[in-house]
Amino acid sequence: MPDPLLSNSQIVSAYREKTPGSERLAGEAREVLPSGITHDSRYLKPYALYIDRAAGSHKWDVDGNRYVDYFGGHGALLLGHGHPDVMAATSEAMAAGTHFGANHPREVTWAQQVIKMVPSAERIRFTSSGTEATLMALRLARAHTGKNKFVRFKTHFHGWHDHMAGGYANHFDGTATTGVIPAVASNVVLVSPQDISEVRQVLENDNDIAAVICEPTGASFGMVPMSADFTAQLREMTAKQGVLLIFDEVVTGFRCSPGGAQQAYGVTPDLTTLAKILSGGLPGGGVAGRQEILDHLDFERSEALSREKIQHPGTFNANPVSAAAGLAALKIIETTDACERANASAAWLRGRFNEILEAEDVPWAAYGAFSGLHLFTNAKGIDVKPSSFRAEDVDYETLKAKRSDLVMKLRLATAVNGVDLSSAPGGLTSAMHTQEDLDLTAEAFREAIRMLKRDGEF
Ligand SMILES: Cc1ncc(COP(=O)(O)O)c(C=O)c1O
Repeated sequence: MPDPLLSNSQIVSAYREKTPGSERLAGEAREVLPSGITHDSRYLKPYALYIDRAAGSHKWDVDGNRYVDYFGGHGALLLGHGHPDVMAATSEAMAAGTHFGANHPREVTWAQQVIKMVPSAERIRFTSSGTEATLMALRLARAHTGKNKFVRFKTHFHGWHDHMAGGYANHFDGTATTGVIPAVASNVVLVSPQDISEVRQVLENDNDIAAVICEPTGASFGMVPMSADFTAQLREMTAKQGVLLIFDEVVTGFRCSPGGAQQAYGVTPDLTTLAKILSGGLPGGGVAGRQEILDHLDFERSEALSREKIQHPGTFNANPVSAAAGLAALKIIETTDACERANASAAWLRGRFNEILEAEDVPWAAYGAFSGLHLFTNAKGIDVKPSSFRAEDVDYETLKAKRSDLVMKLRLATAVNGVDLSSAPGGLTSAMHTQEDLDLTAEAFREAIRMLKRDGEF
């Protein structure tokens, strides 16, 4: 059966015409990579772009087309692509050797910098990704409290290890996803991200909870918003019950403010997971927090307390190149207005997109906080006035509901007009987006909406 997305769509035709090199590579990729991709969010019909160069707020595809970029390295690039200071530090580190199989000076300076910037960080253990960071945070929480289960919020994303595989996109009933054993899933207690009384009830009635983990500004950087007040209540409740609070700041860390969401909200968790901006656009992650908890990784402390230490190898933990890039990026973020500039650009885009949606009479809305841009595409057809839309008033299932064919077409249409929106759909801004980029983006969005109309949508 012909795919309705691909047939009779002027958007798809325009995309194909503009990107023949990407189409050819996608054909080759499908022969060697499942779906031809390496990250689920890069799945796009009829095929996704192949990029071979990026600088600042822009990237160029293999056909030479330029895009204003809102993927931002999946959030890693607050300073844009190829910031000169980060590149210089990276090149210098590369030339000195990529792996010493030994301690090295940069990891110490990098850790000192994180501890200076992140309020909850007394110690940090570096990992190679955000997924590894949340895995270690859970293990630390279990070791420290002697309890087994942990609480997660439906729709919040924490990477892809077994404990985190369900409950953010599906399996909201807590059942195990494909390839995960039910025994693991049964230790994960999923609660509503919008009703604090559910967490309270779990904490008061289940005395086997080691930790509560959340994305502090809400699922997927605020797609389902979580307020400062909600996190403050979490802090109070967990402290009262002797349960650890983990902020997953893999996206929000060094982005909402130099000290992350915890600094912006004034709420200090016990543990914080970090990645993305932490390592300046290179692979890396880390779990930071109270010393007595991180001491479960410490040889001498564990021996002194006659307890078994948590083992933690990891070939590329704190590799010198990521350490150099991360340190350079964090110093810039600490000493400049990078976070504020990114926040201001996203706020401008949200406002302009809503004006366009209203003018075009489209019942969608742009929303978000800090440097996040989310597009509510209203798959359930609720009443929406873009300029007064409040995501806080909409239930999480309605916020998350999407017509994936429509989202794909929107992305193709914006790409045809020189903008690469993320698959959420929406994106993150960097400190490098200029007013010229934002104006171009608004015009591309308006044209994409008109193309969707001509394609029979709305
Ligand atoms: C909030 C959050 N936690 C954890 C992760 C996993 O990080 P990584 O992709 O580095 O494994 C991500 C990735 O996007 C994330 O957004």
